[in-house]
Amino acid sequence: MKPRVLIIRQMPEAALAVVRDGCEMQYNASDRQLSPEELGQAVADKDGLLCVVTDRVDDAVLASSPALKVVSTVAVGYDNIDVAAATARGIAVANTPGVLTESSADLAWGLLFSVARRITEGDRYIRAGQWRDWKLMLMAGHDVYGQTLGIVGMGRIGQAVARRARGCGMRVLYHNRQRVDASIEAELEATWVSLPTLLEQADFVSLHVPLSPETVRYIGEAELRRMKPIAYLINTARGAVVDEQAVIRALQEGWIAGAALDVFEHEPDVPQALRELENVVLVPHIGSASVATRTRMAVMAAENLIGVLRGERPPNVVNP
Ligand code: DGY
Repeated sequence: MKPRVLIIRQMPEAALAVVRDGCEMQYNASDRQLSPEELGQAVADKDGLLCVVTDRVDDAVLASSPALKVVSTVAVGYDNIDVAAATARGIAVANTPGVLTESSADLAWGLLFSVARRITEGDRYIRAGQWRDWKLMLMAGHDVYGQTLGIVGMGRIGQAVARRARGCGMRVLYHNRQRVDASIEAELEATWVSLPTLLEQADFVSLHVPLSPETVRYIGEAELRRMKPIAYLINTARGAVVDEQAVIRALQEGWIAGAALDVFEHEPDVPQALRELENVVLVPHIGSASVATRTRMAVMAAENLIGVLRGERPPNVVNP
């Protein structure tokens, strides 16, 4: 009998083809997010689950599917999956690292430029019919070239962000639990500093840490108050890595100059207070969303899924 798998969202044909080949596939082509109850029911008789970042795969979901062998997510981050519970139940969890590094770094830079040079604000201004006259200081923002970039989390994506900073003549500071190899520091011309030093010195603080119990609200009021009032916060990591309410106050009260956010604590809900602010750029969790990259991620996730169902241990299984 072919293994039964649930494909929880619309996927590119290239990924479906990988799964269709050897599996009986239940496919949520409607692309609607399933409620936890619907997810539990849909996965109950499945051997494999292909999910995305917004699916909360907790122990209750895992417990509802006795035959489940693998949860494969189309993402590098897997904080939405209870890996400890999956491990205890003998279920493999797999992710898609590497293939999205450059696209994610591109987006962090896009956000950085957008907020510093007020690009989305300018776009809104024109669309609202407000542009009547050229003025010397109209939409004057902050320079990027030659400034100090602070990278929090120097994994693959943090490093790809740092690599791009050279073209902007920036000084690069980074903070990571462990210093990266000296050869990488030299290549990136990046200097390890403590988090407080990074926050005090950087003109742009870009977050690239995974969400874990140690990084929940890693950047809260105290950290935001350490930043320069002319500095910007860029978050393409996970919403819960920052204290969202503190960020709102920081933006409203001018503790920092602005923020650019790709991720939010309760996606797709974005607090009204954030939506009312001009000094913030908001995008809907599109860090890796180029057509090529999202397709590569989906195919990789499908291959991870199939690999486990064939009895292999694909390289991207994250269980200890
Ligand atoms: C990831 O891969 O973790 C992204 O956040 C989803 O694209």
